[in-house]
Amino acid sequence: MTLSAEAIEAAKIDALAAIAGSDSLETLKEARLAHVGERSPIAKANQQLGTLSPEDRTTFGKILGQAKSALNDALEARSAVLERERDARVLVEERVDVTVPARRTPKGGLHPLTILTNEICDLFLGMGYRVAEGPELEAEWLNFDALNIPADHPARTMQDTFFIEPRELNLVLRTHTSPVQVRTMLNEKPPIYVICPGRTYRADELDATHTPVFSQVEGLVIDKGITMADLKGTLDHFARSIFGPDVKTRLRSSFFPFTEPSAEVDFFFNGRWIEWGGCGMVNPKVLVACGIDPEEYSGFAFGMGLERTLMVRHGITDMHDIVEGDIRFSQGFGSGVK
Ligand code: PHE
Repeated sequence: MTLSAEAIEAAKIDALAAIAGSDSLETLKEARLAHVGERSPIAKANQQLGTLSPEDRTTFGKILGQAKSALNDALEARSAVLERERDARVLVEERVDVTVPARRTPKGGLHPLTILTNEICDLFLGMGYRVAEGPELEAEWLNFDALNIPADHPARTMQDTFFIEPRELNLVLRTHTSPVQVRTMLNEKPPIYVICPGRTYRADELDATHTPVFSQVEGLVIDKGITMADLKGTLDHFARSIFGPDVKTRLRSSFFPFTEPSAEVDFFFNGRWIEWGGCGMVNPKVLVACGIDPEEYSGFAFGMGLERTLMVRHGITDMHDIVEGDIRFSQGFGSGVK
């Protein structure tokens, strides 16, 4: 543009109109670029100052300076207004409704069998027992021979036991938790007070009352002067704390190769006798196999199924509920987290 007061005034009016007409911070930015940026008429006029006579330079320098400062004031004022508008809008648009129900993330919980196992371990820990565990893949000798179960015993046949290939390894999936008794007696000196929970395996079909993978809890006490009365008292206390203070137990004579005498333990619950597990005085042959002198020490052992215990206590009629892992079943038992 040819430098003239009118032309500068016209460019200023143009620029003020563009600034006033900007309805957002984005259009204001464009207006700033177009009207005060490097390529704006005002900036170009400024570049021409150098070509003018000193007198004109003073005159136009002043006019341009005023125009620029008017435009900067206008930009600043408009920008303040637009920022306020934007802030007000964001407050509304991005409002958080604190009354909207939160999306809940389920916390998860322990399986009812684990809850029961923990409950039993806590009970026995309180009586001075220790929790002992052993491998699920067990030496055949510990699962059978050391427990006085001979090679021709029916429990060893293919129908019951999962044998592991190659057979020369002499490994089985343990059929009960009793090998943990043997491991404990081989590794520790009496007095021994242990409770051994764990998973066990037998070649059963899964149906309403059986599962090939199940759980047992085994108790073992070896000390001086232990009698069957100690066993009975322990089982009574165990049954009362699991099923309720009025529960009675009874022993029915039975046979296990590793206990002598042996008994089945039943408990009276909801008006009937229910089979709970096996028990007895540890067979002196087992003590000898484990390096414990039967003249000095005696002991008792008991073992019961945890699924059955859970089913009876909670009126569960189908084993599938316990093994299938549907959380709708587990939820009724709480999280089990203390
Ligand atoms: N181990 C036996 C079973 O699985 C139960 C049992 C344990 C019996 C301890 C007597 C003593 O049937």
